[in-house]
Amino acid sequence: MGFGFRHGVLIAVLSVGGVRAEAQQATDSLPSGVTPAMVAAGKKYFMGEGLCTACHGMDAKGAIGPNLTDAEWLHGKGNFDDIVARVLAGVPMDSSRSGQIMPPRGGSGLTDEQIRAVAAYVWSLSRPGRKK
Ligand code: HEC
Repeated sequence: MGFGFRHGVLIAVLSVGGVRAEAQQATDSLPSGVTPAMVAAGKKYFMGEGLCTACHGMDAKGAIGPNLTDAEWLHGKGNFDDIVARVLAGVPMDSSRSGQIMPPRGGSGLTDEQIRAVAAYVWSLSRPGRKK
């Protein structure tokens, strides 16, 4: 069970309790297990050895691959677990929406831990209140 599930339960519990301020805070916080250091390291991998910029652009606003800075997600809901899973698996032709594919890990040699960091960075890009 991923922690995305637990995070969802946390928000659900807070909302059911009507504690709006806390629910808001939970929504704005980094996902559980994600630290600001991971986001910072992920940016480095995104720009460098992760090869992500080759297809998503230096600003991650898209080139061959889609814009990763908006709230629109072609695959999954854009939550942290979805992003980790997507980057690990890539996008094979049979599930590509654009006819362009993404190799697993973007074709890079990033480790699982580095993929989690790069996913944390990608997650932060579409949350303007949470840049870096
Ligand atoms: C060879 C080009 C290429 C590289 C390199 C690449 N991607 Fe992609 N990526 C794509 C394409 C193409 C898609 C979308 C395919 C489609 O149209 O369905 C995609 C989709 C994604 C998605 C899903 C976006 C959505 O809207 O659901 C994420 C997240 C993502 N890439 C992150 C990364 C990260 C992080 C890296 C670096 C580790 C990376 N990509 C490297 C081409 C690439």
